[in-house]
Amino acid sequence: MEIILDSANIAEIEKCDRRFALAGVTSNPTIIKKEGRLDFYPHFRKIREIIGENKSLHIQTLGATTEEMLAEARAVLAGVDGRVYIKIPVTEPGLEAIKTLAGGGVNVTATGIYTRMQAYLAAAAGARYLAPYCNRMEQMGIDFRAIIAEVSGVLARAGSPAKIVAASFKNITQTTDALAAGAAAVTMTPDILHSACDFAPIGLAVRDFHADWVSSQGADARLD
Ligand code: E4P
Repeated sequence: MEIILDSANIAEIEKCDRRFALAGVTSNPTIIKKEGRLDFYPHFRKIREIIGENKSLHIQTLGATTEEMLAEARAVLAGVDGRVYIKIPVTEPGLEAIKTLAGGGVNVTATGIYTRMQAYLAAAAGARYLAPYCNRMEQMGIDFRAIIAEVSGVLARAGSPAKIVAASFKNITQTTDALAAGAAAVTMTPDILHSACDFAPIGLAVRDFHADWVSSQGADARLD
C-alpha cells in the first residue's frame, strides 16, 4: 500500500514527508498552478531533494501530440532526473508516447483514466502506474470502486507489473474505498491527508488519558 501526496507545495511536501510514510509525490498542471509562476526545474529538483531518490516523483506532460509529450518527457528527465515517473494522459497519442518511453526504460504513470480499457491499454503499453480519476468518475455516475476492483483483478491474473494509483479524491472515504477495492496506491492532496487524523474522538481520548495520568500519578510525574 502506497500513500502518495498530490501536491507541488514545498512547505506541505516537507511537512507531510516528515509526518507520514509517503511513497512519493504526484502533480499535474492544475496543482502546479496553485503555486503561481514557478522556476519549474529547480522547484522539482527541490521536491526530489526533500523526498529522496527512493520515492516516486510523478510529473505530467502538457502536449497533445506524441512528439510533444516525448520532447517534454526528455526535458523533464534531463531537468529533474532519470527516475521521474512521466505522467501521460491515456489518449491515443499518449499511448504511443507511453509505449515509446516504457520501451526505452523510462518510468511512466498513465493518467486521466476513466475506463477499464484505458487502464488495460496503458498497462499493455508498459506504464508502471495507472491513475483512475475517482472523484471525477463519481461525479459522472461511474462506479470507480467496481472499476478498480475489476482492473486490479485482471492485472493480478495477467501478472502485470502495473499498479493502480487511485487519484482525484475529495474525501478520505473515497481513498479508503479505492484501497479496499484493490488500488495499490492512492494519491491525495495535503488537505485530505491531514483530515485523516482530524477526528474529534481522537483528541478526546488523548485528553482523557492525560487527565487519568495526572489524577493518579500527579501533575509533576513525567515519562522523560
Ligand atoms: C493526480 O495527480 C491527478 O492528476 C489528480 O489527483 C487529479 O485530481 P482532480 O480530479 O482533483 O483534479
